[in-house]
Amino acid sequence: MKGESLLSIENLDRKFIEAILQHAESFLEVLRRPIPVVPALRGVTVATMFFEDSTRTRISFELAARRLSAEVINFSARSSSLSKGESLKDTVETLALMGADVLIVRHSCAAVPHAVSRWASLPVINAGDGCHEHPTQALVDLFTVRQRVGDLAGKQLTIVGDIEHSRVARSNIWLFTKMGAKVTLVAPSTLLPLGVDSWPVEVADHLDDVLGETDVLMLLRLQRERGSGVRIPSLREYQMRYGLDEKRASILADGAWVLHPGPVNRDIELAPSLAAMPNVLVGEQVSNGVAVRMAALYSLVGGVEGE
Ligand code: NCD
Repeated sequence: MKGESLLSIENLDRKFIEAILQHAESFLEVLRRPIPVVPALRGVTVATMFFEDSTRTRISFELAARRLSAEVINFSARSSSLSKGESLKDTVETLALMGADVLIVRHSCAAVPHAVSRWASLPVINAGDGCHEHPTQALVDLFTVRQRVGDLAGKQLTIVGDIEHSRVARSNIWLFTKMGAKVTLVAPSTLLPLGVDSWPVEVADHLDDVLGETDVLMLLRLQRERGSGVRIPSLREYQMRYGLDEKRASILADGAWVLHPGPVNRDIELAPSLAAMPNVLVGEQVSNGVAVRMAALYSLVGGVEGE
């Protein structure tokens, strides 16, 4: 594990997943202390490279690194020499030469973190690559659900909305099926990816038909910046068919949990009146994000060789 990269869930084995979740438990305990800092990554330099906007992921990685006593460099694409024409490869090599020990990369193009890991010969964490994968968000989601549900074998995860553009959905499909859960997708046909038939999922036409059997309902943001707006007749119709409102929440099985990776489009995916319901775990996903990212960083650059 030490020295490896975390680029996708698809290629991860269960041992690696369980190790991260176990470390995350310990780090959650650290975060509850009056001084929530441990020296585990003292002397380590973590560089974040976000080529796409982010609030939760970037800040939680930065906090995670600081809570582990690492140094953090926030590389900003807009104010860097990329604007003078320097290539991404040269930029990555520069950061590596300056002593970065791990690179955290978000990019609007799929597979950029994979390319970065080839160029840098350093551990790289994919913090979201285009519509491909977002491994740490899926680990956060799994960690959050396991705290409530325990073993996921045979549990039903229903993912609703803009599947086509969602790297969170892709990573979660891999992760939850590896843990033995069944996954059902509900989306307008225009927001279902081509090739979905070969994925290990069921597809349902109507959300109301599956709510009663759902253990975990994962809502996705409608990604209008990636062109989702033109794939639906209207926001109102989308909200009526795929949004969680009070009427739908009442059909959800007792004990079912609701997730959303954020940022939430209020009134579209989730009615504002439901946000504070005890079975809506959106806030917990955010706070667990720091512990899980501490676990990911620790496993790749702090753990024992081969652990
Ligand atoms: C997600 C992302 O960026 O892929 N958000 C996140 O990481 N918390 C989902 C989204 O933007 O809709």
